[in-house]
Amino acid sequence: MNYQKPAAICEGAPARDGPCDSHRIGTFVPSELQAVEEAVRSQGVAIRRMRLDDIPGVLELVAQLFEESARPSRREVYKNVRWGGPGNLVAQDGSGSLVGFYLCTSYAEGVSLGVMMGVARRMAGRRLALALERRSFLETMAFGSRLRYGGVRPDNFRSLHVLLNQVGYVGEEFVVSPDPALSRILITLPQTPRAYVAESRWRSWASWSSASAIQT
Ligand SMILES: CC(C)(COP(=O)(O)OP(=O)(O)OC[C@H]1O[C@@H](n2cnc3c(N)ncnc32)[C@H](O)[C@@H]1OP(=O)(O)O)[C@@H](O)C(=O)NCCC(=O)NCCS
Repeated sequence: MNYQKPAAICEGAPARDGPCDSHRIGTFVPSELQAVEEAVRSQGVAIRRMRLDDIPGVLELVAQLFEESARPSRREVYKNVRWGGPGNLVAQDGSGSLVGFYLCTSYAEGVSLGVMMGVARRMAGRRLALALERRSFLETMAFGSRLRYGGVRPDNFRSLHVLLNQVGYVGEEFVVSPDPALSRILITLPQTPRAYVAESRWRSWASWSSASAIQT
């Protein structure tokens, strides 16, 4: 396969936002947030910012989805909710049960880092992972982040699937660790409206209506 990172995603660190960029982002983000909201609403789900009282539910979901060595501590989750910025999110179904989460750290220097995410098994296959990632991306972009970092385990095929088939790009660097569980494919994405639009595969919202839960 001859695959190249789309040119707009290749932008290096974008210039710190001048008034023009801020204005563009100020008008771009609300309409894109609305598109994400409508897509998840069609799946009977709502996404909102994570609160401190969500922490027990998030830890419960983490315990269901991650092996013990990969689970963050209560303190780490607390730090993200308290100081990590607006990219920390939860997804709830119609009955208010927590069905997804996104942990993210946003730095004052205009950088944000996707730390960890999860979607409840009973909601698998509805593209909630993508919705959480996109909303966190938009929220931190509105907050001032211009560069997004993330990492994925090379054996996490579902995450790789989401990145390649839905975002359109998997990563640019493979960091190998003697402990395979710590090896990561690193991804860097500019946080600009142009780059967001360029990562266009996930923008075909029409396909969302056909997404349905997978019975596990
Ligand atoms: C990775 C993860 C977040 C994906 O969540 P999701 O909302 O189900 O993602 P999607 O709905 O986009 O599904 C991704 C693809 O995998 C498929 N898939 C998801 N769960 C599946 C399952 N249990 N069995 C078979 N296929 C599955 C989907 O059909 C989809 O393929 P498609 O785009 O061809 O339809 C979720 O599986 C998860 O929480 N995994 C455990 C924790 C983890 O690895 N987190 C990410 C790293 S921090």
